[in-house]
Amino acid sequence: MTTSATVRVELGARSYDILVGDGLLAEAGALMAPVLARPRVIVVTDETVAKLHLPGLEPSLSKAGIAFRKIVLPPGERTKDFAHLQGVVEGLLEADVDRQTTLIALGGGVVGDLAGFAAAIVLRGIDFVQIPTTLLAQVDSSVGGKTGIDTRHGKNLAGAIHQPKLVLADVAVLETLPRREILAGYAEVVKYGLIRDPQFFAWCDENGLKVRDGDRAARIEAVAASCRAKAQIVAADEREWGERALLNFGHTFAHALEAETGYSDELLHGEAVAIGMIMAFDLSRSLGICPADDALRVRRHFEKIGLPTVPPLGRGRKWSAASLIAHMRHDKKAREGQLRFILTRGIGQAVIRADVDMRSVGDVLQRAVAA
Ligand SMILES: NC(=O)c1ccc[n+]([C@@H]2O[C@H](COP(=O)([O-])OP(=O)(O)OC[C@H]3O[C@@H](n4cnc5c(N)ncnc54)[C@H](O)[C@@H]3O)[C@@H](O)[C@H]2O)c1
Repeated sequence: MTTSATVRVELGARSYDILVGDGLLAEAGALMAPVLARPRVIVVTDETVAKLHLPGLEPSLSKAGIAFRKIVLPPGERTKDFAHLQGVVEGLLEADVDRQTTLIALGGGVVGDLAGFAAAIVLRGIDFVQIPTTLLAQVDSSVGGKTGIDTRHGKNLAGAIHQPKLVLADVAVLETLPRREILAGYAEVVKYGLIRDPQFFAWCDENGLKVRDGDRAARIEAVAASCRAKAQIVAADEREWGERALLNFGHTFAHALEAETGYSDELLHGEAVAIGMIMAFDLSRSLGICPADDALRVRRHFEKIGLPTVPPLGRGRKWSAASLIAHMRHDKKAREGQLRFILTRGIGQAVIRADVDMRSVGDVLQRAVAA
């Protein structure tokens, strides 16, 4: 086992470590023991991850003398709803959860968000540890404490900020992740370079193919750098009043694309974010605030890695700029009034703007759907 990086999320009494390494799952019991109030945990996971990675986790819990029970959910975004939240909370109560029991979220962002929310509300809050098993969850959703579920009014509309006690990001578990999911997670990796770290973007341009293709050292580097970037932003702005919103780069467009495809596997979140970031560069370029060369460099990088740059056709899908704009107006972030866009002055220089002319947005969408 190699723990190659430890990233600290500084939040006063709620600070915690993110351990990034190769083979952490097999040592997870010993690694989490210091943060457990009692050696007793309940593991929440999904069926796919249970089959692939519970056998790697369970012996390490036994070896560390940690008693455990498990709750296994169906995989997929549809699980992130009130019905499954109720199931998990009741499952925890049936397992005789007490204030000293720790919940372990073993899985992708769906398990992390749902289980984290259950941990936030059962007995008015118990501790939890994140063991993210997708690249997206390792670089984004397991860090920062946002937990929640989707409702029929939209995604992530009910939830809580509840920080984990520890995050264990083991790049070895990514071996079993389908390539499409790796690419979707990679979009969130490169996002950190695009929003405020041109050097990290240059690193991605040089090493992105290695990250995609399974080089463990490159994956550790990418996950650790992403966690460092997110940890800094979260420490400065935990509740997203300001800078944390930069993490939503590309997301106003992405959420509209996902709403159009009904949050189905027709378009994964990371794929939508990739397309959204290209749109954000195109919008910034057309507003004259971003050099055309930077927009082109980003597009070329995405093409090299195999990330989508325009909304994909297939399944008889017809995209319309007007209906994407309608989705944007319904987005959660628009509820407080003016739609906010994260634009860019160039690679590594994202800025928040609430004064964007919707006709320019329409033009960008029109170009993308016609491409
Ligand atoms: N809380 C946050 O800050 C935050 C940030 C970004 C995204 N999210 C949320 O994250 C969710 C998406 O997360 P995701 O992309 O991880 O999706 P996911 O959890 O649905 O995982 C994707 C698929 O991969 C499978 N899987 C997981 N680990 C695997 C492994 N190691 N090997 C093989 N298969 C594996 C899962 O069973 C699932 O079918 C969305 O609900 C999104 O809203 C939350």
